[in-house]
Amino acid sequence: MASLGVNIDHVANVRQARRTVEPDPVRYALLAELGGADGITVHLREDRRHIQDRDVDLLRATVQSRLNLEMAATAEMEAIALRVKPDMVTLVPEKRQEVTTEGGLDVTSQRDHLRGLVDRLQGAGMGVSLFVDADPLQLEACKATGARWVELHTGTYAEAPWDQQPLALARLAEGSFIARSLGLRVNAGHGLTYQNVEPVAAIEGMEELNIGHTIVARALAVGLQEAVREMRALVQNPRRDPLFGSQQP
Ligand code: PXP
Repeated sequence: MASLGVNIDHVANVRQARRTVEPDPVRYALLAELGGADGITVHLREDRRHIQDRDVDLLRATVQSRLNLEMAATAEMEAIALRVKPDMVTLVPEKRQEVTTEGGLDVTSQRDHLRGLVDRLQGAGMGVSLFVDADPLQLEACKATGARWVELHTGTYAEAPWDQQPLALARLAEGSFIARSLGLRVNAGHGLTYQNVEPVAAIEGMEELNIGHTIVARALAVGLQEAVREMRALVQNPRRDPLFGSQQP
């Protein structure tokens, strides 16, 4: 049975839209854990567009499940990971212009660089996972880096037209098989939704799915009515306490 890592980047996106203090991803990580999350995932991007360094520090101090830090394979991020020591580091490709992570890491072209980085992170006690497409050559290169985990990129499956989804799913299942044959442990994520998650969760050997956007979107759907009800009650029946700032006589 696969476990669920909840990615809370989009909570931070809402906060950063106003550069204010709410919603605080740290609080929502705790709520996600109360809801049953097996782990909390955040992506500290080089441009800090959502998650901030302070969030990562606070999450390290408060997450009770497992903290998975997604990051680019850069010297800056390595220093942060070595200081914060998340339970897992997931190395992802990163482009400043992209809206979200596009495609998996090209491990074949940077095997030596990644081998050194993986070695230093694992040596410091962290698990390391490489986010890759379900491509045999990439999976073999992952093995050569010494990483113990891969996260299969499910974006192609998630975005495929319905008639091409079975093929994309078969590629993921084959990727899981190849990775496990190489002795790698298998996670997956990106673009999974309430509609498309089940076939991926049912893939043999799938250990953890990392899911973010659809959960935060769903939280709006199941929470918005109550949020509006609470605000309407305040607007219609305000406290008339002068110390509270009411201008009413
Ligand atoms: N896994 C990785 C490596 C990601 O980069 C992302 C997106 O940040 C996710 C999982 C979660 O994707 P989504 O938000 O589409 O569920």
